[in-house]
Amino acid sequence: MCGIVGYIGKREASPFLIEGLSKLEYRGYDSAGIAVINNGELKVSKCKGRLANLEDRIKNDPVKGTLGIGHTRWATHGEPSDVNSHPHTNTNGTISVVHNGIIENYLSIKEWLIKKGYEFYTETDTEVIPNLVDYYYKGDILEAVMKAVSKMEGSYAIGVVTTEEPDKLVAVRKDSPLIVGLGQDEYYIASDIPAVLNHTRDVYFLNDKEFVLLTREGVKILSQDGEEIKKEVYHVTWNADAAEKGGYEHFMLKEIHEQPKALRDTMTSRIIPGKPIQLDDITITSEQIKNIKRIYIIACGTAYHAGVVGKYAIEKLARIPVEIEVASEFRYRDPIIDESTLLIAVSQSGETADTLAALRLAKQKGARVIAITNVVGSSISREADDVLYTWAGPEIAVASTKAYTTQLIAMYIIALFFAQNKGTLSNEEIEEIKREMLTLPEKTEEVLKTKDVVQKFASKNYMHKDMFFLGRGLDYAVAMEGSLKLKEISYIHSEAYAAGELKHGTIALIEPGTAVIALATQEDIYDKMVSNIREVTTRGAKVLGFAFEGHTEIEKTVDLARYIPKTLPILAPVLSVVPLQLLAYYMATIKGCDVDKPRNLAKSVTVE
Ligand code: G6P
Repeated sequence: MCGIVGYIGKREASPFLIEGLSKLEYRGYDSAGIAVINNGELKVSKCKGRLANLEDRIKNDPVKGTLGIGHTRWATHGEPSDVNSHPHTNTNGTISVVHNGIIENYLSIKEWLIKKGYEFYTETDTEVIPNLVDYYYKGDILEAVMKAVSKMEGSYAIGVVTTEEPDKLVAVRKDSPLIVGLGQDEYYIASDIPAVLNHTRDVYFLNDKEFVLLTREGVKILSQDGEEIKKEVYHVTWNADAAEKGGYEHFMLKEIHEQPKALRDTMTSRIIPGKPIQLDDITITSEQIKNIKRIYIIACGTAYHAGVVGKYAIEKLARIPVEIEVASEFRYRDPIIDESTLLIAVSQSGETADTLAALRLAKQKGARVIAITNVVGSSISREADDVLYTWAGPEIAVASTKAYTTQLIAMYIIALFFAQNKGTLSNEEIEEIKREMLTLPEKTEEVLKTKDVVQKFASKNYMHKDMFFLGRGLDYAVAMEGSLKLKEISYIHSEAYAAGELKHGTIALIEPGTAVIALATQEDIYDKMVSNIREVTTRGAKVLGFAFEGHTEIEKTVDLARYIPKTLPILAPVLSVVPLQLLAYYMATIKGCDVDKPRNLAKSVTVE
């Protein structure tokens, strides 16, 4: 993770560097720093803690100059501290580097450089980069970076400046994201588009091992062999406001409320009543769909939970066996993959290292890959055979909300598309599901209106140390996501459990007063779920239960029942997750937690 930015132009660099970093803080926020070159001198200002600390420091001790780099950190090597913060500098203090990623062979490089007389002051892997560049520096910073990079293993997006050539900024990426912003006589690098959006809408996406040389005259992109590469300019059409809080106290609350629109946008032009599902961005043929023997859905975190729903949907509607697995496990267990395998990689950012590696593994073994991602131009979108974009707009809060519900929509679209091609559902059945899907945005608006009830429940229960989320079938899938939301932002320990499995051990943890959230939207197992709820209330648990409107039986067993608008049970997750997102949000705010930037987390995890 970590966020990097860089600027070369005619204006002061530090205001942009700070502003750019503030837009990337979601990528890591345990320390921050900038390095700027002025009159042949390098000035570095960096410190532990949030970006605000760095801003204070710069206010008292300004950093002047029109060429600079910046970094916001999520620590991997070395604790968050002033000295471990980026940028890092070579022993002579002439070269400065910001880095996102991990240099896996840094220890051997470090030992080698120490023997050559270089000195090291930090615990980071990154510190080897400026020294290695220094070792190869013979008057051309681009050439030196190219040579240094050829010795580095691992993942990196780096920005390099040197006092020796104060008119150049060099950058390169491998397995970590990097874009180039194209202004008028000024140019930028950044880990993500929002960092540059107040200054330019024209960007280049860099591929792995592409080097970029930025000067005040322009931008040159080169392959590792030094060949110049011509790139198409990508013009960003979405609005910078989309990445602002827009009057909400937190990004997370704003993003929860943006869900009706995000759902609508993700369905637009794909789900049209009376018309077959048309996916312009998907090239897989009907024949290829019919030949799929097995599907793996691979993802991490919240995207994994969307995949659990995807498994249910694809198996039920298209009758293809689906395995769902977290990417970090999948890639190391020698999974059975061949040409008849389809891998669906789900990732909001499109940059998650493990998901990307799983995608590459599957492709290498001959599988076809469909990506579901929210970020146009992301690594996963570029490497997949087909992409189904979620049109959620930028998601800034670390805890994912609108990305999850739009991923669910994408899963239903794929399931229906496959069912349509395989003929596993009749046209009428497909039309019924489509019709219901189109009502989901409005029904989500309805669910959002129940926020006062959820807020009240939160104010009575925020002091709990543990909570349980119970459900069966798709409700269990949603319970997992609800539990993750609560853990990550309120730091309350919680477990999601398949309600029928509870009695095989975990029920031992239920005691008088234990808080339980129970979901009972799945009609075919509703009675069984009601019995499972009774098992915990009998043992003293205090239960908040959710069911479809009209399913009032639940009231006999729970302490508080809330209803969500009726839809097809298979679509219920889109609605039932919303009160759980709100619950986590209110629990966290009442406890005074930093909702948008929870401790120890980062939004985009580009390390293994
Ligand atoms: C991080 C984030 C999670 C996210 C996961 C996968 O852990 O904190 O919110 O679900 O990465 O991210 P992706 O971008 O691949 O969906």
